[in-house]
Amino acid sequence: MKVLIVGSGGREHAIAQKVSESKRVDKIYCAPGNAGIAELAECVDIKAMEFDKLVAFAKENAIDLTIIGMDDPLVGGVVDEFEKAGLRVFGPRKNAAIIEGSKAFSKDLMKKYNIPTAAYETFEDADAAVAYLETKAVFPIVLKADGLALGKGVLICNTLEEAKEGVQTIMLDKKFGSAGNKMVIEEFMTGREVSVLAYCDGTHIKTMTSAQDHKRAKDGDQGLNTGGMGTFSPSPFYTKEIDEYCQKEIYEKTMAAMKAEGRDFVGILFCGLMITPKGTKVLEYNARFGDPEAQVVLPRMKNDIIDVMEACIDGTLDQIDLQFEDNAAVCVVLASDGYPVSYEKGYEIKGLENFKDKDGYYAFHAGSAIKDGKVVTNGGRVIGITAKGATLQEARANAYKATEWVNFENKYMRHDIGKAIDEAGVN
Ligand code: AMP
Ligand code: GLY
Repeated sequence: MKVLIVGSGGREHAIAQKVSESKRVDKIYCAPGNAGIAELAECVDIKAMEFDKLVAFAKENAIDLTIIGMDDPLVGGVVDEFEKAGLRVFGPRKNAAIIEGSKAFSKDLMKKYNIPTAAYETFEDADAAVAYLETKAVFPIVLKADGLALGKGVLICNTLEEAKEGVQTIMLDKKFGSAGNKMVIEEFMTGREVSVLAYCDGTHIKTMTSAQDHKRAKDGDQGLNTGGMGTFSPSPFYTKEIDEYCQKEIYEKTMAAMKAEGRDFVGILFCGLMITPKGTKVLEYNARFGDPEAQVVLPRMKNDIIDVMEACIDGTLDQIDLQFEDNAAVCVVLASDGYPVSYEKGYEIKGLENFKDKDGYYAFHAGSAIKDGKVVTNGGRVIGITAKGATLQEARANAYKATEWVNFENKYMRHDIGKAIDEAGVN
């Protein structure tokens, strides 16, 4: 088979790695890809939002399967375009990707189908939002821009003043563009966060092993929100009991709800969950693999990813026995110092050869490029160092050891990825 992957981050590198392990695949292309992906795939200079060019490329090169990694093209309807051209593609259609593309849609869906989530109200008018905050709000409170905002459209406000400023930022100043035409105001929840990703075929849903992300830039969950500074899998806080509850009350119900709405969900459903003292609730849905969740979940998957993705497209996921290794993985992101605000790029990345032929160790490129024949930094998040281990502690020790194998001028990382594991008292 010939496979095309759309995207350019660490997530797409992890997908490409898994696809390269499939016995069914002879050739991988990636649009646009990065320097790490280029080791596994032929990178094609087409951007993820250039739908016409992607479709034309897939036709001309007789691509058997296209895998969409990123949220923007999915929400924009790239899958519909591929299907119209008679091409096989993995990902939700536009009418299903809206589960990520509009927070108002996903909150209304959860309310209508009784799926546990934080209490909320939706607003299309800034004055009405402020009036609500002045009369009904309990602080802290959470403001969310309705649309896609690179994971930055969520504001947690401790006071009425902060919340009013938040309304100004989202709805009037339009800091997140048209994503702020609507806004959700929701109850603040406390607890442990966990990401559960699932394969879906429109009718059936099969969850993967759990993971936990670290969104803040600095140790101790301080600093600004980022795209994710590291992950571990599985989450020891996501117990068998919680899983049984979520299977019934969240995953199955979400699949059935989307079907009932005529929006059959085919692809990866990412459930961002909060394990609260009052039960587990949905924080958000995404319509794709998490980044950097994919970097710890996919290396532990035993199945051939092509078999699973094809079963999703064909509606036969119930026939797949989805299996994960009985071990653990940790991913530590090496970033450019200053991320997510401002940082320098273009520095040579040294030591990548140390990962060659090392089983269970991966350097997933997030922001890299090739300049004058050298691999250089090309983004805020540069490389996700993933290592497996028999236990979470071992995986973490291995991952941190491997972070020393790679160097570049302004290398920055968190030193407490997976520290929560110690609190869980597990191994
Ligand atoms: P989201 O993009 O909806 O996942 O929100 C980004 C982050 O904001 C989440 O990962 C949480 O850490 C936080 N967050 C979102 N909604 C809430 C909520 N209702 N209560 C507490 N924290 C939240
Ligand atoms: N790691 C969170 C996300 O991919 O949205």
